[in-house]
Amino acid sequence: MKDNHTSAVISLQAKSSREWIECVLTNFDEFLIDHAANERKASSMALSLVAHYPDRCELRTALIDLALEELNHFRQVVRLMQERNLVMTPDEKDPYVNQLRNHVHKGSEGYFLDQLLCAAVIEARGEERFLTLSEVLDDSAIKKFYKTLALSEKGHHQVFTRLAQCYFPKDLVNQRLNEWIDIEGTIFEELPVRSRVH
Ligand SMILES: [Fe+2]
Ligand SMILES: [Fe+2]
Repeated sequence: MKDNHTSAVISLQAKSSREWIECVLTNFDEFLIDHAANERKASSMALSLVAHYPDRCELRTALIDLALEELNHFRQVVRLMQERNLVMTPDEKDPYVNQLRNHVHKGSEGYFLDQLLCAAVIEARGEERFLTLSEVLDDSAIKKFYKTLALSEKGHHQVFTRLAQCYFPKDLVNQRLNEWIDIEGTIFEELPVRSRVH
């Protein structure tokens, strides 16, 4: 990727509530199962973008790396689950992601930009969630794990904004990114409190 494409850092509108934190801390096993599924889906989503845009070299290179990192996160969370004798459950619908995706524009270029920016805000939310958990968890190893994951998800949201800037004018990216931050903020605020990533 060209060096002149600096990546925008996303500042989300809302932070995780105290209610959500309490809910996750009291139902942490349930959270882990959902978290594992989210990591697996993030890896798959990155690879499906590679498959959808095979001729876009910067995207291909960046998202193959990202898919591997997400797959590694998946492996790490599954290991934590195994230590606790937890089993994977069938995927649930993710109301947060589904509602976000309703805002993806039709039309090839608008669709492409929105795919990147929608992914960017989802990654930024992952970062916010994991950082929040790293501050409140008791177990030092798991605390450290979530801190590391938060840093990794920060890197991921920057990958997506950098890719957007690689393929679209900076002003357009910034304008649409601000719209995505608004959309995400509204959807996030209305999510039910559950022991889930979203
Ligand atoms: Fe991840
Ligand atoms: Fe990620």
